[in-house]
Amino acid sequence: MATTTIENPFAQGVTQDRATQPAQLVIFGATGDLTKRKLLPAVYNLAQAQLLPPGFCMVGFSRDDSCNDETFRKRLSDAVATSGDVREQDAAVLADLSARSYYLSGDFHDPQCYAQLKAKLAELDPKYGTAGNRIFYIATPASLFGDIVQQLHDAGMINPSSVVGQASPAQSPPFTRIIVEKPFGRDLASAKQLNTEMLRYLGEDQIYRIDHYLGKETVQNILVFRFANGVFEPIWNRRYVDHVQITVAESLGIEGRASFYEETGVVRDVIQNHALQLLSLVAMEPVTSFDATDFRDEKVRVVKAVRPIAPQDVDKFAVRGQYGPGFITGADAVGYRQEPEIAPDSATPTYAAFKFVVDNWRWAGVPFYVRSGKRLAKRVTEIVMQFKQAPHLPFRNAQISELEGNILALRIQPDEGITLKFGAKVPGPSMRIRSVNMDFGYGATFGREDSSPYERLILDCMKGVQTLFDRSDGVEAAWALIDPVLTAWAAKPPANFPNYAAGSWGPPEADKLLADDGREWRRL
Ligand SMILES: NC(=O)c1ccc[n+]([C@@H]2O[C@H](COP(=O)([O-])OP(=O)(O)OC[C@H]3O[C@@H](n4cnc5c(N)ncnc54)[C@H](OP(=O)(O)O)[C@@H]3O)[C@@H](O)[C@H]2O)c1
Repeated sequence: MATTTIENPFAQGVTQDRATQPAQLVIFGATGDLTKRKLLPAVYNLAQAQLLPPGFCMVGFSRDDSCNDETFRKRLSDAVATSGDVREQDAAVLADLSARSYYLSGDFHDPQCYAQLKAKLAELDPKYGTAGNRIFYIATPASLFGDIVQQLHDAGMINPSSVVGQASPAQSPPFTRIIVEKPFGRDLASAKQLNTEMLRYLGEDQIYRIDHYLGKETVQNILVFRFANGVFEPIWNRRYVDHVQITVAESLGIEGRASFYEETGVVRDVIQNHALQLLSLVAMEPVTSFDATDFRDEKVRVVKAVRPIAPQDVDKFAVRGQYGPGFITGADAVGYRQEPEIAPDSATPTYAAFKFVVDNWRWAGVPFYVRSGKRLAKRVTEIVMQFKQAPHLPFRNAQISELEGNILALRIQPDEGITLKFGAKVPGPSMRIRSVNMDFGYGATFGREDSSPYERLILDCMKGVQTLFDRSDGVEAAWALIDPVLTAWAAKPPANFPNYAAGSWGPPEADKLLADDGREWRRL
């Protein structure tokens, strides 16, 4: 058989194995929920997997002045002991990481605290051989992001940008990289403003806007599935695909985060970032490489190709909902407005469904239906490609009522895997046709637990690989898409909230969104 040489897009970027340079990791918001549940376990996992460089130390920075090095180390060991993300408890690794962990207290608005931080980091540099390299992970409320960057600049803690890879580590100046949490802004104007504030003091190559969905193995597998296999890409277009469904469903409610959720709602929390990331990975054109520039150029291009929803069309293309009381996982559940600290007349949407249209040659006429909600029947994140029916069924007298058409389901969580649904003949003398599944399960095939997305993304930042982080034009393009809907909804409070029961699959209006096109949501 003839062999062919092919360009391998994975040679760079997503799998690129750049060396991890020595660095100090400073966590702003070190006593917060994200640090406890995700960041500390992720750093521990990296240590346990021997992926941290020998030159490494960590400084937690937050307001709580009752916390000190000792109690921060206790927080670290508690987080490691209780986190479901931790793969293996190793006392020696924990002891070593603890010894390299420090805490500093202060208010992030106070310049004095930055002087103290600067002195502390300078003191730790020679001790751990971190060579002046710094990663500042901003895990604070979004309102502080811009201020913290300015304070870091004013305190002289931001080294000039140096394009990664241009010089060897030995020659390049110490790096300053900032990881900034989502949501990045709360609308297009504030995202633009935040970009301007950050880019005043940092190069784009120093800003790592995190969306942890891109750190998930199964999300990265969408790229491998599409671009490392020859058979799917030829049918990945309007000729074969009828429509696409993206579901990010949660069964949990707001879990005590009332003030955060009242401010945010489902569109800012999930649709603007996670759901649109999934859409862009499914819809983007093939990339020539996974170099951060090539990859993000393509991702942004497809988001910009999504047709903006005109204010007068919002009701035709978007549906909002809020859960009322219901029954979920065997127990009664209160409605959103009955949750502690939620206003009894709150208009915050806990559910949203959108119909997006991608205006390019590949996807003309193929709607992308996207939905997300809290307190839905099941926790599931899934992308479904619904293929067109066969043009002619030659089985005249066959019973084909159970034939659904070909579906390719990419399951992101839980039960990670891929299912292809196709028609098969039911054994027996008559011609009966039924849909059956061909299944690939991650767990069953690879038999190992996923690394947490934060682990992957912190490591990428240490290597200076930005492929899986958002660029300024990417976040702005995503906000530009949903801004008109948020504006229209803010101007017209919902008259029918709550409009779905906890434990259901959302409001009837979301079913109508598809029914009007002669389609229905896939039953999950
Ligand atoms: N939690 C999650 O699962 C999650 C998921 C995705 C994204 N995020 C994002 O991650 C960020 C952090 O979320 P979180 O849930 O961890 O929030 P959080 O629990 O409220 O933690 C915020 C942290 O910042 C500190 N802080 C706030 N204002 C401060 C100030 N002026 N000076 C010094 N410290 C201050 C807090 O200290 P005090 O405790 O003393 O107030 C706390 O340590 C947010 O941007 C959020 O959107 C969180």
